[in-house]
Amino acid sequence: MIISGSASQSLSAELAAELDEALAPVEFERFPDGELIARVGDVSPDRAVVVASTPTSDAHLELLQLQDAAREAGASEVVTVLPYMGYARQDAAFEPGEPVSARAVARAVSAGSDRTLVVNPHEDAVLDFFDPAATAVDASPRLAEPLPAALSDPLFLAPDEGAVDIATAVRDAYGQGETDFFEKTRHSGVDVEVTPSDAAVAGRDVVVVDDIIATGSTMSEAVAVLSDRGAARVFVACVHPLLARSAPTKLSRAGVEAVYGTDTLERAASAVSVAPSLAEYL
Ligand code: R5P
Repeated sequence: MIISGSASQSLSAELAAELDEALAPVEFERFPDGELIARVGDVSPDRAVVVASTPTSDAHLELLQLQDAAREAGASEVVTVLPYMGYARQDAAFEPGEPVSARAVARAVSAGSDRTLVVNPHEDAVLDFFDPAATAVDASPRLAEPLPAALSDPLFLAPDEGAVDIATAVRDAYGQGETDFFEKTRHSGVDVEVTPSDAAVAGRDVVVVDDIIATGSTMSEAVAVLSDRGAARVFVACVHPLLARSAPTKLSRAGVEAVYGTDTLERAASAVSVAPSLAEYL
């Protein structure tokens, strides 16, 4: 049985169809004091797969409640799927006094889970914060699916070196093209500087690939540089289209042709489903 968090309802339906498993009825409400309650109807005593992205603190709390409801109803196994794991990027105490938020979250999720899957975590090291260690599911090759069939001399570009593997995975799935990466310096949460490589981009279609678009600062800087250098069309693709604050506007102003993401987060840009990738592990 698939049990969906409120932020993962489309993906959960896709996954239920993919696995030919039932989709549990769920209700999300609040008590008069503001506290959340996530209710699950008709939990079968078989395996429960709780699918819940956690882009907000409320979504984290819902997930813990859904796991508990599944246990309470006698599920034989609780598998937790984090399509998008919130707080994963605070994976170290970067300044004295800071928490390792990813570890705190992983510990809480582990308490209610027999097995946990995480789609493209920002760093694989966060998987070890879970007990037992979580399994990474790489959905990045699916980002090739919505790209136009006839890209002109395509270049698959990572906006920083850390995203080279994802850019290469998308290039490999697309079937042709070069890969390259920019250097990135982050001055603050929203102030990012990218230093272009020597790659010739004039007249070429460029696909900029990253694991996540959050504020859109990284991608919009990269797109602007590419547009200035005469790229024909610039597409951006990411696994997690968080697209917070004014990210869509920043990208449009920079001259992006199209934004493609997956349904780990349900946004207008969520062009592909990670359900087939998850199904391989379920
Ligand atoms: C950083 O290493 C990540 O791969 C992304 O580049 C970053 O988190 C994107 O954030 P933003 O959209 O806020 O620039």
